[in-house]
Amino acid sequence: MAEILARHAPSQDALLPILHDVQARFGHVSIEAIHAIALHLNLSRAEVSGVVSFYRDFRRTADKRPTIRLCRAEACQARGGERVAEHAERAAGQRVRVEAVYCLGLCAAGPNAMIGDQLHARLDPARITALIDGL
Ligand code: FES
Repeated sequence: MAEILARHAPSQDALLPILHDVQARFGHVSIEAIHAIALHLNLSRAEVSGVVSFYRDFRRTADKRPTIRLCRAEACQARGGERVAEHAERAAGQRVRVEAVYCLGLCAAGPNAMIGDQLHARLDPARITALIDGL
């Protein structure tokens, strides 16, 4: 944690970059991390906690399951996203975390999902099932 904070100037502009670094390093933003960040940036713990709660990218507790981020926004819905989501939930069960996101920026090629940094476009029930089975 100290190493992450040392990389960022104690400016409130650094809040989101620090939170992304903490999320990437630890898989979640713990209450201890929130306290340390608040102290470093001269913010209240409530302010930091509010940002963590607002953005879906940040988790308060660790979840070691693989995650697929599935677009549930309108353009993907119009291209069969609801059916893809049903199959994703079925294939995932409790083993894989299916996280809803609202637009991945490639609407014309939907339905889309992200696994890590990799975008998967033009999904159908068979492709989403195969992707999740491979996690
Ligand atoms: S609506 Fe799904 S990528 Fe934009």
